[in-house]
Amino acid sequence: MVKSVNVAIIGSGVVGSAFVNQLKNLKTAINFNVVYFARSSKEALFSSDYKPVDLASYKNASAQAVLSLDELTKFLKGASKPTILIDNTSNSTIADYYPTFVKEGISIATPNKKAFSSDLSVWNEIFKNSEAPSGGLVYHEATVGAGLPIIGPLRDLITTGDKVEKIEGIFSGTLSYIFNEFSTTDPSTKVKFSDVVKVAKDLGYTEPDPRDDLNGLDVARKVTILARISGFDVESPTSFPVESLIPKELESVQTADEFLSKLPDFDADIQKVKEEALAENKVLRFVGQVDFKANKVSVEIGKYGFDHPFASLKGSDNVVSIKTERYSNPLIIQGAGAGAEVTAHGVLADAIKIAERIAI
Ligand SMILES: NC(=O)c1ccc[n+]([C@@H]2O[C@H](COP(=O)([O-])OP(=O)(O)OC[C@H]3O[C@@H](n4cnc5c(N)ncnc54)[C@H](OP(=O)(O)O)[C@@H]3O)[C@@H](O)[C@H]2O)c1
Repeated sequence: MVKSVNVAIIGSGVVGSAFVNQLKNLKTAINFNVVYFARSSKEALFSSDYKPVDLASYKNASAQAVLSLDELTKFLKGASKPTILIDNTSNSTIADYYPTFVKEGISIATPNKKAFSSDLSVWNEIFKNSEAPSGGLVYHEATVGAGLPIIGPLRDLITTGDKVEKIEGIFSGTLSYIFNEFSTTDPSTKVKFSDVVKVAKDLGYTEPDPRDDLNGLDVARKVTILARISGFDVESPTSFPVESLIPKELESVQTADEFLSKLPDFDADIQKVKEEALAENKVLRFVGQVDFKANKVSVEIGKYGFDHPFASLKGSDNVVSIKTERYSNPLIIQGAGAGAEVTAHGVLADAIKIAERIAI
C-alpha cells in the first residue's frame, strides 16, 4: 500500500510559491496530501473532509478565512494521517506556537528562523517536546544558508560523537555581496562602502531599509542557531557581541533614503580599516563565529589573508567553515545562501525526510 502524509502549508510568498511548484512536481513513493494551505495571512484553502488542495489552481480557487493556530491544530489532529506543517513565513506568532504544534504531534519543516533564534527557553521547549514519544519532528535546514547542507551535516557530526571546535562563516548574502565588492585582493579597487550599499539596494539584495541588514541581527540569529546545535547555550541573538555596520549617528534617522544620503559621510572610517587590512595582504569579511576554545560567540568584521577561502568568495554566496575534532582541517560548505528555489528545496528535502519517518 502507498504510504501517505498530510501537509499544511502556511505562506505563498517568494519561498512558499517555489516550494509549492517543487512539491507539485515531486515524484516520491510517498503521497503528500496538502490538506490546508494558507496562501496569505488572510485566506486559506481546506475542506472539512481533508480532501487534498489542488496545487495547480490554488491561486484562483475560492478560499476561506485562515484558521487560528488553535483551530488549525485541532483540524490537523482530527485527520487520520500524521501532518507536516510547512511554515514559509517569517511570522513570529506562528514561530512562538511551534512548541505547541510539536507537543500535539505535528511535525515542522521551515525556513523561518524566529523560533530557533529567540529565547533559549523556546528552543529547549521545542526540542524537549519533539523528543517525547508522541512529539512531532522538527527540521529547519533552510534557516541557515538557505538550501546549503549545513544544519544536517553539523547535527550528524555531533550525533556520531564529533566535537565542534570552531564554526566561522559568512551567513548573509547581502553582506557577502557588499564586502566581496568593497574589499578585494586588488589594490586598485577604489569603490566606496556607501556606493556598494546603494548598488546592493538597487539590485534588490538588501531589505527595503538596508539598516535591517547592516545591523548584523540576521547574522546573529543564524549564529545563535549553529551555536545551540553545537552545544553552546546562547541565551538570545542579542546576548553576545554583534558589530553593527550602521554609524551611531545614523541609527535613528527616519528614512532609508536619508540614511543612504548621509552614509558617505562615514566612508573614511571603514576605508581606513580596509586599507590597513590590504597592507597585510588581507580582505575584510563580515563573519559570524562560534569558538569553543575562546568560549566566544560573535558577529564582526574579520580580516582574512588572500589565500583564505573567505577571500575568494563571489557574488552573494554564503560560506561556512566547521572545525571539529575529526575535521581538524575544516569542512567548508559554500554556495548560494539565498533565493527562492534553493531555499524551497531545503524545506522540501526536510519535508521528505520527515515523511520517510512518519508516513503511514
Ligand atoms: N527569500 C529567501 O531567499 C530566503 C532564504 C532563506 C530563508 N528565508 C526565509 O523564508 C521565509 C519566507 O521568506 P519569503 O522571502 O518567501 O517571504 P515573503 O515573500 O515575504 O513571504 C511571506 C509570506 O508569508 C505570508 N504570511 C505571513 N504571515 C502569515 C500568516 N499568519 N498566515 C499565513 N500566511 C502568512 C505572507 O502573506 P501576506 O502577504 O498576506 O502577509 C507572505 O505570502 C522567511 O522566514 C525567510 O526568512 C528566505
